[in-house]
Amino acid sequence: MKDRICYSTDEIIRAINADHFRIDGDFRNKDILSVEQFGLADIQRVLQRTAEFREMRETGRDSELREILKGKNVFVGFYQQSTRTYTSFISAAQRLGAQVVGIPGMMEYSSAYKGETLEDTVKTVESLEFDAIVLRHPDDDSALRAAHAVKIPIFNGGSGKLEHPSQALLDLYTVIDETGKNPAELNITFVGDLKNGRTVHSLAKLMEIIGNRSMNFVAPDVTPMPRNIIQSLRRRGVEIQETNSLEDVIGTSDVLYITRVQKEWFTNDDDYQRACSATSVTPDLLRHAKKTAVVMHPLPRVNEIATSVDSDPRAAYFREVKNGLYTRMALLSLVLTNNS
Ligand code: NCD
Repeated sequence: MKDRICYSTDEIIRAINADHFRIDGDFRNKDILSVEQFGLADIQRVLQRTAEFREMRETGRDSELREILKGKNVFVGFYQQSTRTYTSFISAAQRLGAQVVGIPGMMEYSSAYKGETLEDTVKTVESLEFDAIVLRHPDDDSALRAAHAVKIPIFNGGSGKLEHPSQALLDLYTVIDETGKNPAELNITFVGDLKNGRTVHSLAKLMEIIGNRSMNFVAPDVTPMPRNIIQSLRRRGVEIQETNSLEDVIGTSDVLYITRVQKEWFTNDDDYQRACSATSVTPDLLRHAKKTAVVMHPLPRVNEIATSVDSDPRAAYFREVKNGLYTRMALLSLVLTNNS
């Protein structure tokens, strides 16, 4: 693929914070590129909508749901592998009555393989009268570039190492649903490949926006949380503890957010092996965690959580997946209908 990175991280963050992208109480036709577009009230609106859709699904109001995006056409194009985000965005759109075209292997099966730029591809989708595009792409600036190229809304399903906003929102919904507590008052611990994991970057920023001031980052030396995010969180008053060892913070953590070592970004096998050997969550280790702790993971899991943990009631990661369906229904409906 011939795509070029056009914007630096600072430029992306500046662009996303411009008024044009801010939600500011009105989701209609907005791009969903980054958690930084959301204010507290916007986040509450998404959480409320998510809960409403969950309730509607659980009470069998499917025919009512199918009216919400009736007549809309959604394109889902993924340039990187996915199970949950791809499937749940498609399923969310379909359950709301939209028609969906999905290409899960854009690098191989779209004209990207022939050298078409991301801009030309999204313009093509717009010309074909789609109402929205859900995009996943390895470049940090991909969602922003797509949003600049077309008028129809872009939903960022993961852009490089930078952002995964729909995942962060479903994670926040899960934190609240599992703990029943104000998420601003919880101690949240992020574990794993914090350097490359976009879910961690988005969720840490989102937790700060909702007022959380207590975070731990547990990573081996090869994959620390990026300095710019740490500095920005600290500037906003977040108390941060960084450590190599989960044992240091497990007993005080309300939420354990475990992540995969992002193999695809490593250029050095030694570093990859060091990152992999860092932490594995086992039933033994969880004996030191609070009885009320919540164990989360955006998935896919490789071996950072033993499968023997799955039967622990604190293991919330498959419930987290399910919440992704309702959260994506919420985002699609808020952006694509007038009822925002
Ligand atoms: C994550 C991603 O793609 O960033 N997966 C997801 O969307 N749930 C996490 C990962 O791949 O490790």
